[in-house]
Amino acid sequence: MKAPRVSMTGLGAYAPERVVTNADFEKTLDTSDTWIRERTGIRERRYARPDETTAMMAVEASRSALAEAGIEPADLDTIILGTATPDKLLPSVACDVQAMIGATKAHAFDIGAACPGWIYGLVVGEAMVAAGTSRYALVIGAEKLTAITDLTDRSTAVLFGDGAGAAILTAANGKRGIVSSYLRSDGTLAELLWRPGGGTVKPPSEEMLGDRSYYIKMAGREVFKNAVRSMADAASQALERAGITGEQVDLLVPHQANLRIIEATASHANIPMDRVYVNVDKYGNTSSASIPLALVEARESGRLKPGMTVLLVTFGAGFTWGSMVVRW
Ligand code: ACO
Repeated sequence: MKAPRVSMTGLGAYAPERVVTNADFEKTLDTSDTWIRERTGIRERRYARPDETTAMMAVEASRSALAEAGIEPADLDTIILGTATPDKLLPSVACDVQAMIGATKAHAFDIGAACPGWIYGLVVGEAMVAAGTSRYALVIGAEKLTAITDLTDRSTAVLFGDGAGAAILTAANGKRGIVSSYLRSDGTLAELLWRPGGGTVKPPSEEMLGDRSYYIKMAGREVFKNAVRSMADAASQALERAGITGEQVDLLVPHQANLRIIEATASHANIPMDRVYVNVDKYGNTSSASIPLALVEARESGRLKPGMTVLLVTFGAGFTWGSMVVRW
């Protein structure tokens, strides 16, 4: 395995308080707890308060990561935030976070890579730290997916939740850190998972409100097939680049969208499910926040320990996908 040059010295996550269960959806939609559990593995998800923004959730996660790293906001050089749910179209959520935490010396920008946004952000932050242009980079995944989810559409409403996660990257000291990574995209399939309305192609209008095109639209079965294929590709590539096999992975922490996709990814990589961290049952799909939320929980529950070899694998709209091997 290669020597890491950049490591995560702090990690934080935040999930809003309000729990929405499958039974809650039974009251408003033609669906059932059994269907949702069997097809997705989801039992409940968290919903942000109406006044709670993507930036506010990002700040909560960031403060925990900063505290663990033992640094102040003013020590940050870089803030990178992956999100599919910016609070405003302009400027970036990362700039709001920069102002809210008082990171007076940092530059800040968002990454638009949907669910893989946090992994994409880690790869960009890693490059900046390795190049010596940034000593400390804060990389955040934060989402208020409930703001763009059509709660009258049963095929998407039950899937998504809100939350945030963050890590501090800095130069590796010893054997711990990012060992390998892999990113890919395929824009030819964008319309299988998208938000057609509200941008410059279809600006806000009566028509856009009428056809509800500002909400997420998804061809679930097609997305499922692509997710299985791409996450398998991503797992193989990061392992190969690290010079290891699935047998040497202590913990797989995949994007939490659907338990069946997670099981297929683990099986492809030859990693038994007792070495896979799953919390999709508690949070649903929180897009770019899902992997850091899972890492924090895995650590709190004792499943993730220093010295472990960890594989992160992700997939989302674009399509975008990616992976990373980390010596924890
Ligand atoms: N309750 C009950 N029935 C439902 C529901 C629901 N909530 N949603 C869909 N159905 C119905 C459909 O209408 C369909 O009925 P029909 O056969 O009468 O037409 C039937 O269930 C089967 O629908 P499919 O979409 O084929 O069901 P599938 O087994 O594929 O499961 C699901 C749907 C869960 C959305 C699955 O396709 C999936 O997980 N896709 C991937 C989604 C994903 O991972 N996205 C994440 C990547 S991007 C990101 O993270 C933002």
